Amino acid sequence: MRALIPTGHPGKLVAMDQDVDEPNPTPDQVVIEVEAFSINRGETFLLQTPTPGWRPGKDIAGHVIRAATNGRGPAVGERVVAHGDHSGWAERAAVSLDSVAILPDAVPLDAAAALPLAGLTALRLLRVAGPLSSRRVLLTGASGGVGHYLVELAAHQGALVTAMTSTPERGERLHQLGAADIVHDIASASTPFDVVMESTGGDALMAALRAARAGGLVIWFGQASGIAPVLDFFDWDIPFGVTMHRFGYQPPGSSDAADLATLVRLVERGNLHPEIGLLQDWAQAPQALEALIHRQVRGNAVLTIDRVT
Ligand SMILES: NC(=O)c1ccc[n+]([C@@H]2O[C@H](COP(=O)([O-])OP(=O)(O)OC[C@H]3O[C@@H](n4cnc5c(N)ncnc54)[C@H](OP(=O)(O)O)[C@@H]3O)[C@@H](O)[C@H]2O)c1
Repeated sequence: MRALIPTGHPGKLVAMDQDVDEPNPTPDQVVIEVEAFSINRGETFLLQTPTPGWRPGKDIAGHVIRAATNGRGPAVGERVVAHGDHSGWAERAAVSLDSVAILPDAVPLDAAAALPLAGLTALRLLRVAGPLSSRRVLLTGASGGVGHYLVELAAHQGALVTAMTSTPERGERLHQLGAADIVHDIASASTPFDVVMESTGGDALMAALRAARAGGLVIWFGQASGIAPVLDFFDWDIPFGVTMHRFGYQPPGSSDAADLATLVRLVERGNLHPEIGLLQDWAQAPQALEALIHRQVRGNAVLTIDRVT
C-alpha cells in the first residue's frame, strides 16, 4: 500500500512510498481505510528528527474494512475517526478500539479528521482550567488547531476569552467563535487573567505569568516557536501565588475513545466547528507541512486520500 514516510530532509519532510506493508492488527484493533487525515505541529517536530522505522500519522478518518477480532467495536463499513499512535498517513491503518469513535452521517470525514489531537487537547485543557463561567482567559497561539477549538468551547462555557494571534486575519474566525478580544501581543491585553494558556515559548511564558492574577493559573502546554522559555524569579511583575501547570494531553485515566465521541457529538449538534484552513490531496503533504510550520494555516490542516472532486 502507499504511505507517507519521513525523509529527514528539511523542506520535504515526507515522501510517498508505494510499497509499505499492510497493517497487521492485534485482536483489539480495527483496520481503517483512511480517507482524510490531519497534520499537527507536534508531528512536524517529530519529522525533523525521525526515529528509524517510525511512520507519522495520528489523526485519521475513514471507514472500517476489518473489525476487531475481539468482537467489540465498530463493524466493517462504519465511518470512524481515530487517534492512533503513528502510521496513519497511509491508505490503511490499524488503530486500537480505545482510540476510535463512530461518526454519524452528519459529521463529514474532513471535519472528523481535524478533531483528534487538537480537539482532545482543547477539551482536556478546559478540564484542567476548571469551571470558566465569567472567568477571564488568555490564550496564546490561538490561531492554530487547538486555539480555534479552545476559544469556541471556553466561550460556550461563559468565559471571557482574549485570543492572541500574529495578525488580525489569523484572528478573524475566533471572533465569530466567541472570543471577547483579539490581541497581537500579550503586553496589549487587558490584564489580569484568571487563567492563561501558553504554548508558543520564548518570552511568552514570562509574559503569561505576568498577565495572570495573584492566585491565578498558567497552563503551559507547548513551545510552537521551538524556543525554550527562561524564567526569572526576581521579576516582581509576576504576582505571588500563581500556579503553573505543565500540561500533557493524555493524562493517566483519560479515554481517547470517550473524548473523541464527545467531540463528534459537539460537532453533530452544531456546538463545535472545525476550522480547516488547509484542505488538499495528500500528494501535497510536503507543501502542507511547510505551510503549517511557517504559520500559514489557520485552524487545522487536513489532507485527503485520492478524493475525486
Ligand atoms: N502539551 C500537549 O500535550 C500538547 C498537545 C497538542 C499540542 N500541543 C502544542 O500546543 C501548541 C498548539 O498546537 P496546534 O496543533 O494548535 O499548533 P498550530 O496549529 O501550529 O498552532 C500554533 C500557533 O502558535 C502560534 N505561534 C506563535 N509563535 C509561533 C512560532 N514562533 N512558530 C510557530 N507558531 C507560532 C501560531 O499562531 P500565529 O502565527 O497567529 O502567532 C500558530 O497558529 C503547539 O505548540 C503544540 O506543539 C501540546
